[in-house]
Amino acid sequence: MPEYVGAVDQGTTSTRFMIFDHGGNEVGRHQLEHEQILPEAGWVEHNPVEIWERTSSVIQTGLNKTGLSASDLAALGITNQRETAVVWDRNTGRPYYNAIVWQDTRTDRIASKLERDGHGDTIRRKAGLPPATYFSGGKIQWILENVDGVRAAAERGDAIFGNTDSWLVWNLTGGPNGGVHVTDVTNASRTMLMDLETLDWDDELLALFDIPRAMLPEIRSSSSPTPYGTTLANGPLGGEVPITGILGDQQAAMVGQVCLAPGEAKNTYGTGNFMLLNTGTELVRSEAGLLTTVCYRFGDEPAVYALEGSIAVTGSAVQWLRDQLGIISGASQSEQLARQVEDNGGVYFVPAFSGLFAPYWRSDARGAIVGLSRYNTNAHLARATLEAICYQSRDVADAMEKDSGVHLEVLKVDGGVTANELCMQIQADVLGVQVSRPVVAETTALGAAYAAGLAVGFWKDTDELRANWNESKHWDPAWTEEQRQTGYSQWKKAVQRTLDWVD
Ligand code: G3P
Repeated sequence: MPEYVGAVDQGTTSTRFMIFDHGGNEVGRHQLEHEQILPEAGWVEHNPVEIWERTSSVIQTGLNKTGLSASDLAALGITNQRETAVVWDRNTGRPYYNAIVWQDTRTDRIASKLERDGHGDTIRRKAGLPPATYFSGGKIQWILENVDGVRAAAERGDAIFGNTDSWLVWNLTGGPNGGVHVTDVTNASRTMLMDLETLDWDDELLALFDIPRAMLPEIRSSSSPTPYGTTLANGPLGGEVPITGILGDQQAAMVGQVCLAPGEAKNTYGTGNFMLLNTGTELVRSEAGLLTTVCYRFGDEPAVYALEGSIAVTGSAVQWLRDQLGIISGASQSEQLARQVEDNGGVYFVPAFSGLFAPYWRSDARGAIVGLSRYNTNAHLARATLEAICYQSRDVADAMEKDSGVHLEVLKVDGGVTANELCMQIQADVLGVQVSRPVVAETTALGAAYAAGLAVGFWKDTDELRANWNESKHWDPAWTEEQRQTGYSQWKKAVQRTLDWVD
């Protein structure tokens, strides 16, 4: 039996390939960024061909760096930025348009019309999602309506859709020469097109977006003993490896963090933040602005669901300090700069660049920095940015407690921003609970590897995965209850400003 499992993590800003051993330890990795295409205010696109090329390179370089080859890998897992929509020609492999990214708000009119026409409740009931620009359905509709020839090609069965998981699996397994067109239940649950109970595309939902069913991939389990397909010998892996795991990245992080029992939760700090709570095989409908989503489905076992609080802009607010304001030269400098001050100096920053996601769901909201006085410096703004990451997570944690009645004792965290120790301390202070980070912070790739490896018996059961989880560090709350309450009520006032601006 080969000794390793590989995983591709196709994220919003970069793609990485990682290799893990049986203990869940990282053996090697390679990562490359891709271009963020911003053609208009509120529009965000990626070039799918660039994403495929980057994926091929990270796989090849990742294998070369470790001296391993395809025959050392028992299986390959795929995890991906969710919702981002690619539509391509199955005969040529050419995309008809750039990928429309989850953060893109161009479909605002599609989403608000659905609500106005009284279809919001149907979408909430069947798909577990509010009509919003975030999800794939409106993005596919936009491409069908705005890109010449795509509707006719879709009706002929030539134009097919996928999130980046489907796009990569299709390319890895042969592309125009027999590539398989599949996705998994977690990705499908982010389209507004799948019924959460039947776990199948739903004709009523497809009709709302006028999307031909023939465009859509087959929906499979997240961990599949029957491989979705096998990588090509002349592809980037240079050998045949079964692809047996697919999970949306936030669901993959749940698996990587072994949040596999009802009541277990994690928060991932990436471009955005995504807090998920495992609700078991029970579908919990949110009353507090959270999403109901599929957490994972292993083989033929029943699907496990989650409540999710999605936050559009957290790590990307730090990037904004770097790229648009130029007040730091790298993300890690945000910590040094913010440490120069004791507190936020009265400044609150609500980075509503893609509107506000959970629990507000206001795609028309726009960002605000409030409470400025002449005394304030870059350091206060850096501190306010880190606080914004944590306060947005508090909004979501409160909603989760309302919906589920589960009070978090400890918050498991992962993702790039968790390297920022000040931010993690602020998170513990703002929530009033302990924050705990595992040794393997790349839990997204690890979760995809776990799903793939479970399917082929590399890990024999989930107990083996649990045994692999180890804490690297935790942070305890240091603020008084009064500091916590005052800070949070100021934050809520600042959020209100971003909504008043457009009212
Ligand atoms: O829903 C969007 C999410 O899947 C993107 O995650 O880590 O690529 O920002 P990330």
